[in-house]
Formats: sequence, C-alpha cells, structure tokens
Amino acid sequence: MAESRQSIHGEWSSGMVFVLAATGSAVGLGNIWRFPYLVGENGGGAFVIVYLACILLVGLPIMMAEVMIGRRGKRSPINALKTVAREEGLSSQWKLLGWLGVLAGFLILSFYSVVGGWALYYALQALLNNFSGIEPTAASGMFGSLVGSPSLVLLWHTLFMIILVVIVAAGVRKGLQRAVTILMPLLFMILLVMVVYGMTTGGFGTALGFMFSPNFGDLTGASVLAALGQAFFTLSLGMGAIMVYGAYLPRTESIPVATGWIVGMDTLTAIIAGLAIFPVVFAVGMEPGAGPGLVFETLPVVFGGIPFGFILGLLFFVLLTVAAVTSGISLLEPAVAYVTEATAMSRAGATSAIAAAIWLLGIAAGLSLNAWADIRIIPGMDENIFGVLEFISNDIMLPLGGLLIALFAAWFMRLESVTDELGLDVASTGFRVWLLTTRFVAPAAVILVFLNALGLF
Ligand code: PHE
Repeated sequence: MAESRQSIHGEWSSGMVFVLAATGSAVGLGNIWRFPYLVGENGGGAFVIVYLACILLVGLPIMMAEVMIGRRGKRSPINALKTVAREEGLSSQWKLLGWLGVLAGFLILSFYSVVGGWALYYALQALLNNFSGIEPTAASGMFGSLVGSPSLVLLWHTLFMIILVVIVAAGVRKGLQRAVTILMPLLFMILLVMVVYGMTTGGFGTALGFMFSPNFGDLTGASVLAALGQAFFTLSLGMGAIMVYGAYLPRTESIPVATGWIVGMDTLTAIIAGLAIFPVVFAVGMEPGAGPGLVFETLPVVFGGIPFGFILGLLFFVLLTVAAVTSGISLLEPAVAYVTEATAMSRAGATSAIAAAIWLLGIAAGLSLNAWADIRIIPGMDENIFGVLEFISNDIMLPLGGLLIALFAAWFMRLESVTDELGLDVASTGFRVWLLTTRFVAPAAVILVFLNALGLF
C-alpha cells in the first residue's frame, strides 16, 4: 500500500532537490539575525554547545519523523497523517495534528511576510545606495519610518506575498523546485562572499571569540530553553512544512542521509551568518546584541561606512530576502496541498485564495506596529497583534505539533513501518538511537519548552 502510493502534486526530481528545498525552508530569518543575537545574549560558546546538542537530540529525530510520515502518506500533512494513521490501525483523527500544522503555517506566514517585506525594502534601499555614509540616528530613523508607515509596511508585505504566490502556484517542479535550485546556490555564494570579506576585516578574531569561547557560568536554565526553542524554529519543525516536502521525496532516497544534510547545512548557515555579520559589526566598534535592530538598524551603518559597502549591503539584503522567500513558500505549501486535495480548485486558485487570507491577517500584523499599536486582542496579555500571532504559533503550536509528531512516530506507528520507511534495520544502532531520542529525549525536551512558553516555570 504505502510503497505504491504516488504524490498527486508531483515529486522532487532527486533527493538533492529535496535537501535544497528543505534547507531553504530551514534557513531563514531565524538563522540570519536571531541565532547570532541569541548567542550574544546567552553566554556565547556555551550556548552554541547546548544549541548543537538540541539540534542533534531533538531536531534531527523529529525531522526524520516528519519526513517519514510525509513520504509514507504522500499527501498534505492533514491527509498524510490520516492515511498513515488508518494504515497503522489508529484513529483517523490524527489528521487534526495536520490541521494544527496548517493553521500554524497560516499564522506564522502572516507576520513572517511582514518582515520578509522589510528585507525586500532594504534590498531596494541598498540598490539605491541609501546607506552610503549613514549615521546611527539616520539608520534608526529609516527603520522607524518604514515600520511606522502603514502604507509602506502593507506595500512591501503585499509584494512579498505576491512573490510566494507566483512560486507556489507554479507547482512542485516548475515552482518550488525551480526556485530553490536557483536561489539556494545564490544564498550559499553570498554567504561565502561575506565570510571571506569578514576574514579580511579586523573584527574576525573578535567574532570568533564571541561565538566560540564557552563560558558555562553565563548559561542559565532560560538560555538552555532558548537554545531548544531556536533549534525547533530554525529547522521548521512542528507545522508540517518538512512533512509536506517529505511527501514529494522519491522512495529511492534515504531519509537519514537527507535529513542529516539538511540539519548540517542549517547549522552551518547559522554559524556562517554569525561569522559573516559580527566581524563587520566589531570592525566598526558597534554592539552585537541589538536583536531585530541588528540587521535593520546596525548593519546599514556598517555597510554605509566600509569599503565595498555598497555591494556587500546589497548582497546581504538580497540574501535575507532569498532566505525569507524559501522559508515562506514552505509555510504556504501545506495548506495549498490540502486545498487542492480536498476541493476541485486548481493549484493556482488554491494558492491565491489561501495567500489572500494570510495576506489579510498579515495586514493586521503590519498595522499593529503602527496605526493599531495600542490594540490588545488577548485580555491580560500586553502584546500587539504581531506579538500575539508570534507567541501563539512559535511558542505554543510548534512545540505542541513537534511533540505530537514524535509521539505518533515513535509510540503509535508500528516499528516495521518506521524501519521500512527510514530504511534502517530494527537492530541497527542508528534505529535504536532514533527510537530512544524520539520516544523519550525529544518529548521531554519539548514539554519543557512548552511549559516555559506558557510561563509555568
Ligand atoms: N525555519 C525558518 C527560519 O529559520 C522559519 C520557519 C518555521 C519556516 C517554521 C517554516 C516553518 O526562519
């Protein structure tokens, strides 16, 4: 049964394309600004070690589980879970886990697209040479006037969504596959140029020390949990993005090998992003821990005052846009796949309809940073709409989805089905490690993140 099932959406032409697409999903805003900034705040090298442990012990096993369920079901996360659950003699209500993921993707994309729009806006500013000689106050002013302007935020959010629609509407082969095979090599090339440049500036040694000298004294419980949460978000786990990409993976490809590459490349990109960003920041004596402002307020000053700053600034914001686009398409795909399965709508129709709904919600997220800044939608929670969307999806829905995926794969599915799909022998060390981590380590860790997000400890 499972062996002969075909994806009605088409398949990646090779395992390599799957790796590029899933790496494109994983590598996003989370790697390029969030990771380096978390490193700075949480004890540098010690945080990096804990983060790497979380990636290996929680991220990798859950990613294998997601790809496995997706490829076995060969459908959108909702229908893949339903099909696999039935085949395993389980309740078809497991499809609700797919719904949770589709909904999470919907919510995440609404605000992700707003930030993706900023990246696009900044790429244009770089192209217009607007960073040249810019002072810190002017750079803050530039960011403030973008975020503070409802029309600018909405315009760029709209453009970002249109790019995603054009790619996703064209389908798995002609849209997603073509986009990632062009954009991912571009992304790696730009990263490389920036690291090589970083090595030529005086700040490279300082950046290395900043990222890799472990000081376990600085590590707190909160930073361990931050490392775990980041591992989750950066690998795009818990909402079906990786599951739907797994549905398009040909049967001949090894899941452990493919996921190993994705996890390795995502981790490498986060580290390279840090090594690319911090040297230039240190070289001009600026502060590394500026959070969202690091990318949009600090870096333009840096680019505006260094040799080759014009081209580097342009490359950097193109890189940020590309990373956000290849993540954005994976946030849209689970819902699009489901609607084309469940209705008579064409892919283009389904993509436009879903994107329009997400776009509308994104308007609320965008306006909540300016015109609607004072509106509170959850009583007792002092967050604007943007903050509420981010909290519900990142801190609640992703950990919950990941936990349930781990439980489904390691406790509910038959071991023969799992070993068959993963291509591992039941007695092999690889399989035993997967089972141990997915059964016990990952759920326990995710429950901790979850409780922490709810403020229970
Ligand atoms: N992994 C992406 C990033 O680091 C975000 C993302 C989360 C994408 C969940 C898809 C699904 O920016």
